[in-house]
Formats: sequence, C-alpha cells, structure tokens
Amino acid sequence: MEGTPKQPSNLSLLLQSLVEQARQLPEQGKVADYIPALAAVAPEQTGIAVATLDGQLHTAGDSSQNFSIQSVSKIFGLVLAMNRLEEEVWQRVHMEPSGQPFNSIVQLEWEHGIPRNPFINAGAIVVADMLVSHYSASKAALLNFIRKLAGTEQIWADSEVYQSEKEHGNRNAALAYLMKSFGNIEAEVPQVLDHYFYQCAVEMSCEQLASSLVFLANRGVQPVTEQLICSRRDAHRVNAILSTSGMYDQSGEFAFTVGLPAKSGVGGGIAAIVPNYGVIAAWSPRLNSFGNSCRAMFMVTRLAEQLGLSVY
Ligand code: DON
Repeated sequence: MEGTPKQPSNLSLLLQSLVEQARQLPEQGKVADYIPALAAVAPEQTGIAVATLDGQLHTAGDSSQNFSIQSVSKIFGLVLAMNRLEEEVWQRVHMEPSGQPFNSIVQLEWEHGIPRNPFINAGAIVVADMLVSHYSASKAALLNFIRKLAGTEQIWADSEVYQSEKEHGNRNAALAYLMKSFGNIEAEVPQVLDHYFYQCAVEMSCEQLASSLVFLANRGVQPVTEQLICSRRDAHRVNAILSTSGMYDQSGEFAFTVGLPAKSGVGGGIAAIVPNYGVIAAWSPRLNSFGNSCRAMFMVTRLAEQLGLSVY
C-alpha cells in the first residue's frame, strides 16, 4: 500500500462526484443479454458504496438499488466451502489465472477436470458441488451466510433471473458433466447447477455488498461485531486469488492500473477489497468486452487513484 490511504473530509462528496462523472461518460458497453432477465435491467443506473473498517458506510447514486450480483457471489460460495472443507478445496480447484474466458471449456479437458481457479465458472461449479455435498440445504446455507454478513434478512435470489439462468445454462451444464466424467463432481449435476444458478441470481445493493465483504479487508474478522468469518489465512488466500483472477481476462490490467483484489459480475457489479481500509462496491449494468462494468471500472479506478489505495 502506498502509505496510509488519505481520508477525505467527506468521502461521500467524492463518491457523488465520481457517480456524476461516470454518468457523463460517452455511452460505452452493453448490458449482458445472454440471459434474458439480465437484458431487461435499466442500463443507466449507477451507484457506489464504500464500507470502512470503522463501521461507516459512504454512498452515492443508486447505491441502495438491488442488482444481480452474479459472479460476485463466487466469493461467498468459496468462503463458505473453505470454512467447511479446508484443504480439500484446493485438491479439486487450483489457484492459477486461467487466461481464458470465464465460461471456457477447452482448458478443462487438458487439465483433467480440475478448474484453474474458483472464480471461473468451472471452479465455481466445483465449489457449488462441495456446498451441495456438505450441506443438507445448500441454497439456504448460502443465503443465510450472505444475510449474516450483510446484517439483514432482506436478501433473496431473483426468481426470474434464476429461471432464466436455468433455461440458458447449457454451457455450464457441459462444464459440470465434463468435470463429473473426471470424477471432480460428487453430487448429481442438475442439483449442483441448481445451486450455482441460484447463487448467481442473488440480488444485493452496493451498500449491502460493501458491508458484507469487510471481513476480507480485516483478516477474516467482521470489524464492528468482531465476529470471525474466516481464518486470517483464508482471507489472505481469497484476496490473493481475487488479485490474479477476479476480473476475468482483464485481471492483469486491473492489477496494473488499480492494484486491488476485486471481483466483477455480469450484472455490472464490482467489489474491490482494500486491505486494512474497507470495501468498495460499484455498479452500473453496461459491460465492456471483458464482461466488466464500464462505469463501475471507471469509478473504482478513479477512487483508488485519488485515495492511493493500491496494495502494491
Ligand atoms: O454462469 C453464468 O452464466 C453466469 N451466471 C455467470 C455470472 C458471471 O458474472 C460470469 N462469471 N464468471
């Protein structure tokens, strides 16, 4: 980290200005349309929230509006699985960048059904299998975990997105059956996919997302309640893999320009972890060619620059 991050006298004013700048950018990117329910989202919405370790929440724009967290949910699934299975997780999914699109299938055959990391679809599907195999009600366990982290019961999966994912999930099914053929999926594939699609369909706001992930900026401990959410070693591991693999094929560029562990989702959300400081959650639905939100990238990049938040 480049020294201690500067605390502006009013972080919310800075966030407000970033939202305004993002809204004035020339129109770029397009809303994810490979799942029809995602294509229906109003594309101009733009929000940001920063949760800091002292328990404060700074917000601007559409920060309280719910959106489909999609792949950002892979963080919650992974932490839940790490808490339950410990080292076994890393025998079934690795921790290397994939260098391939998130839903790529070719590498999986060469590498005998072991996904490169838990943030590509194949890796998240193996994690879903771990949850399905170790919890009697894995979807409820995941939702309860997220609710506990966010400090609210008001979080659900969107049924329309969930159904839409199921109806357009052939590539994910192909990944799951291929891994099953290598013996890396224990449960029945339809049950594993059901969990995976449900997890992707969870809806949260920037405010809830930022608050729920602060434990990763604080060595696994929720800073306000002092509750241990995961071990210090596991918080380190999640942040390390987020740094190399959290932003799809743009992870290298994101590390180069921003320098924070982060995860994006095709719903347009980005959660960036700032160790010893807090979490930035930004959202706007239009995506660039890598599948990362154009406006959320802009806001996170500018905020990290202006506050000197890079971990490098
Ligand atoms: O698997 C899918 O098709 C999506 N629901 C994945 C979501 C996403 O954000 C892309 N992820 N790596």
